[in-house]
Amino acid sequence: MAPLRVAIAGLGTVGAAVADIILSRNTLINARCGREILISAVSARDRHRDRGVDLTGIDWFEDAAEMAMQADAEVVLELIGGEEGIAKTVCENAISSGRHVVTANKALLAMHGTALAKAAENASVGLLYEASVAGGIPVIKSLREGFAGNKISSVHGILNGTCNYILTTMRETGREFDDVLTEAQDLGYAEADPSVDVDGIDAAHKLALLASVAFGAEVNFHAVHVEGIQFISADDIAFASELGYRIKLLGIANQTELGVEQRVHPAMVPIDSPLAHVEGVFNAVVVEADAIGTSVLQGKGAGAKPTASAVVSDLIDIARNTVLPTFSVPLSELSQPKTVSLDNRQGPYYLRLMVLDRPGVIADVSAALKEEGVSVEVLLQRGRSEEGSVPVVLKLHETVEANVRRAVEQIAQLDSVVERPCMIRIEEL
Ligand code: HSE
Repeated sequence: MAPLRVAIAGLGTVGAAVADIILSRNTLINARCGREILISAVSARDRHRDRGVDLTGIDWFEDAAEMAMQADAEVVLELIGGEEGIAKTVCENAISSGRHVVTANKALLAMHGTALAKAAENASVGLLYEASVAGGIPVIKSLREGFAGNKISSVHGILNGTCNYILTTMRETGREFDDVLTEAQDLGYAEADPSVDVDGIDAAHKLALLASVAFGAEVNFHAVHVEGIQFISADDIAFASELGYRIKLLGIANQTELGVEQRVHPAMVPIDSPLAHVEGVFNAVVVEADAIGTSVLQGKGAGAKPTASAVVSDLIDIARNTVLPTFSVPLSELSQPKTVSLDNRQGPYYLRLMVLDRPGVIADVSAALKEEGVSVEVLLQRGRSEEGSVPVVLKLHETVEANVRRAVEQIAQLDSVVERPCMIRIEEL
């Protein structure tokens, strides 16, 4: 059978690792898909950089957008990144000229996934993106194929390695957020702009894609409620441990009777939950569905080799002629579900208040909670301070989010509360 010819746009660490896998596993890939995968063209910024792979004999294009239309290739790999600009043009050009697209670009797909899927279906080519969510964990494949006989009710998990690394290290060392973020950047885990990680945006991009493929719905990034981890303090992490929890940045997508709920925020999970033990840069995705019950997928969510492994699995699918609908169902079947507001969430909550250590403060806080019908399960205060503030921690009984938020607004206005209260949802996952 003729080789599958592939053009690679972007030869950064992931692009170079993809080229290395393709070039070094020729025999294995050939045996697995009955044909060779051959890199026929590449495009990158610097032609002369040593990337540790031999690109001799491969066509070089200065312009990736031009390569996407003109390369002698059936597949274009988009490994440039970015939600607009050249990455988008490369995908559009490849599709319009009848080539399959494989991409690791979660930001692009979160913003333009539905439009690109439409273009791909109209052109009868595939749009594959296993590498865009949770790196080396084959979660898109699992949702689209392995769980295809299920009605999926929830997909949730730890989708950002940088945040998980920061939260793990804060817990292990007692250090504060800013200090550990610098370390995560030095180690190369964070995105070019680390706010994309720590503000929860990267996890939200991935969650929007998981929700689409799990529920057969149009991608709706703007429906994701997003909060990051930048307000989590070393105190919160210590109090969480004392209460029997770990703090994780979670992405949660639930199919409910009212529609689809999508949210990314820090959450406390019980120490005996599988998610509590996913540490460092690892990711985990939990799928709940009617036939399988609960399934947990865990592995390396970032890094050149795990991401390249996912890219190559997409190429092998194309080489085997297995090209499936982008979001599990053909376009005509894609739904546009209603967005369920987070105000409806019901569950327990953690509140940390920084208060002046004087009589009557707890009474004022209790009055605000009482007014909103919110009841307290645990109250902790550690330390004393004649002049400064002290942390007071409350674990609230299961209640409705809208009520907690109103109570927090009232508490934030109290003279004795010196910082914005920190509210963390407790998820019994
Ligand atoms: N910055 C991302 C993370 C990389 O930390 O998970 C993979 O998308």
